Order: sequence, then C-alpha cells, then structure tokens
Amino acid sequence: MSAAADRLNLTSGHLNAGRKRSSSSVSLKAVEKPFKVTVIGSGNWGTTIAKVVAENCKGYPEVFAPLVQMWVFEEDINGEKLTEIINTRHQNVKYLPGITLPDNLVANPDLIDSVKDVDIIVFNIPHQFLPRICSQLKGHVNPHVRAISCLKGFEVGAKGVQLLSSYITEELGIQCGALSGANIATEVAQEHWSETTVAYHIPKDFRGEGKDVDHKVLKALFHRPYFHVSVIEDVAGISICGALKNVVALGCGFVEGLGWGNNASAAIQRVGLGEIIRFGQMFFPESREETYYQESAGVADLITTCAGGRNVKVARLMATSGKDAWECEKELLNGQSAQGLITCKEVHEWLETCGSVEDFPLFEAVYQIVYNNYPMKNLPDMIEELDLHED
Ligand SMILES: NC(=O)c1ccc[n+]([C@@H]2O[C@H](COP(=O)([O-])OP(=O)(O)OC[C@H]3O[C@@H](n4cnc5c(N)ncnc54)[C@H](O)[C@@H]3O)[C@@H](O)[C@H]2O)c1
Repeated sequence: MSAAADRLNLTSGHLNAGRKRSSSSVSLKAVEKPFKVTVIGSGNWGTTIAKVVAENCKGYPEVFAPLVQMWVFEEDINGEKLTEIINTRHQNVKYLPGITLPDNLVANPDLIDSVKDVDIIVFNIPHQFLPRICSQLKGHVNPHVRAISCLKGFEVGAKGVQLLSSYITEELGIQCGALSGANIATEVAQEHWSETTVAYHIPKDFRGEGKDVDHKVLKALFHRPYFHVSVIEDVAGISICGALKNVVALGCGFVEGLGWGNNASAAIQRVGLGEIIRFGQMFFPESREETYYQESAGVADLITTCAGGRNVKVARLMATSGKDAWECEKELLNGQSAQGLITCKEVHEWLETCGSVEDFPLFEAVYQIVYNNYPMKNLPDMIEELDLHED
C-alpha cells in the first residue's frame, strides 16, 4: 500500500476511534406484525420526513404497514382544503411545492384518528404547537407506542429546561427518541444526498427483536439512498445542538446583514459551538461531547443552518431593513417559523433562572438584539464584554 493510502487509513482510524454507529446498510428480519406509522405535522420538514417514511414503509412491507398517515393542520388554499390537495394531487402546495409525494402517504386533518392503532409516531411540528398537540393526544395513545421527535427547541417551564423528546415521554407516557441533522428540508425532499442522526434509548419495557422498535427498525424507517442515517443513543446531545444552532444562526444572519462577511460568520459559529457544548455539559450531563463533532446533528448541522437557513434569512433582513424579527419572519416565511426566535427567549429565561446568563454571551446577545433592540453592530463587544466575567 502507498504511503498516502497508509496515511489516509490512519486518519480514518483516528476519526472513527471510539465511534459506535450503525452501518450504512439496512438489514432487517420480518417482524411479527408490521409497524403502523403516523407523522404528526406537515410543514416543510414534516412533509419531507413523511415522504421519506412513506417511501420506506412501501419498500419494507414485511416490517411496516405500507399506508402512512400524515396529520395536517387543515388550511384553506384558494377555496380547497390542503388535505384534499395532498390526497388527490400528491403535493403539499403550501409547504413543499413542486415535490411529488408517494401515493401511500395519506393526509388526515383529524389528529386523534391519525394515531388510531398506530405503533410509531413521528412528531414534526414547530415546537410552539407541541403542548397543545400533546394535550389533545393524551389518553389516545397506547403506552407501547414508540416515537421520534424531529422538532427543534426546548420546553421551558416549572420543571426547568426539558428536551422535547422527554416532554413527549412525560405527557404521553411513550418512549421517544429524536432525529436531527444537517438537513435543509427542500434539499432532502429533492433527494440530494445528506446525512442525519437518529437517537433512541431502548426502553425497559422493550418487547424483543421482531416485536418492538429498535435501532435496526429506526434505520429502516428513515434511511434512504439520498438520506443516510446513523443511529446512536445520545438523545440529549443531538437535541441540544438541534435547538441551539438556530440561535447561533440568528447571530450569523446579523453579521451577514451588516455586510461583515465570512470571517465574522465563522467567529459567531466558533463561539456558538462552544456555548452549545457548555449548555450540554451544564444542564444535560448525559450528553456526549463527541456527538457535537462526530454526528450530522452536531457541527455539520450548525454549519448548514448558519450557511443559509430560515433563521439566517430573518436575521439578515432585520439587519438590512431595521424591521423587527416578527415583521421579517412574516415577510419572508409564508406562515413558516424561524425557531431560533422562540428558542433564544426560552434559553434566556432559563439561564436567568439559574443565574448563568454570563456563561453564554452569544445566546444572551442574540436575545437582547431580538427582544430589546440592542444594536447588532455591538455584537462583538457584547460577546467580549461578557467573556471578561468568565475570568
Ligand atoms: N424546514 C427545515 O428545513 C427543517 C429542517 C430540520 C428541522 N426542522 C424543524 O422541524 C420542525 C417542523 O418544522 P417545519 O419546517 O415542518 O414547519 P413549517 O415552519 O414549514 O410549517 C409550519 C407548520 O405548522 C403548522 N401549523 C400552523 N399553525 C398551527 C397550529 N395552530 N397548530 C399546529 N400546527 C400548526 C402548519 O400547518 C405547518 O404545517 C421545526 O421544529 C423545525 O425547526 C425544519
């Protein structure tokens, strides 16, 4: 073997040392009774993941019931119901226009009916709607149902800061993991190759291989030739990064809008990654540091989101127009939401409660700019000034 090939192997050995990830292929035996799957949510990402899931349910009839339901928050689109459009034209014309959906994906406007006799629920809605969805579902979901949350954000309340997967477990009494990664929905919907991370703990009441959801089943549910899935255990790590990268992306949008260029954006991402890891260490000590740099849900998602997701766009417009965040969100996103705007407030409230605001200068600066009109050109000083308190 050449010296160059040796060096490449060595490097790959270093990069993969200590990694415990699933292989890229899907290997599955038939299950006792195929799992019935429902996706709750039909926005840009909700519809994209429903497409992925429906393709796999059709492809593995020995593992999944082919028909997949997608709960849709009903809307009127030029006199037609969105569910009718999806079920007849197989397109979500409002949230994922131009993408043909599989015909085994059925839109259902009735939330309770959509989860009837279901085995796996995939939650994929903007997180501000989760409490209401959970309270409606309470009492209608069997405790053996398993769930995956594709939501980004935290639940902050009397119990402190909570992962959304833990909130779902607590509210509905079902085991819930998470899916997160460098995944701009439209690119995944167009079947451009990307990676993602699914995290799931096998629960104590696991009924056994072939009868219950395990890592292999989850791989089969989400992995596509254009959507490569790694399944791990660290639900906290992938959820923290998924939520907080949106706050960092707002910071990147501010410096972009100010015309400061790539160096400034990279600086914001560097500080942001440090704060994301610190947040995990302080509040979710079970999260694993390597998740942040080894998994798609870690630094890769941070880079993608900061390169041009919705949060960057909204923040950029705030900088160039002087308009407030809500006006910019309305103007740019056609009913979709920039989750960083809510997350930065939740994070601020939580950090204030714990007296830890000064440990997270970037998160605090983003909050002050969005909610209290602090001048964004002071961002470098705000970060540095607060940094001084650390010593
Ligand atoms: N879009 C992406 O590229 C992307 C990628 C990864 C993760 N995510 C995350 O996925 C989650 C879902 O986002 P999305 O992109 O599918 O949503 P979206 O912002 O595209 O759409 C909003 C959705 O909310 C629904 N809605 C509006 N009012 C509602 C109400 N009162 N109750 C319930 N639902 C209501 C709308 O019908 C629509 O389906 C978010 O947490 C987001 O951060 C998005």
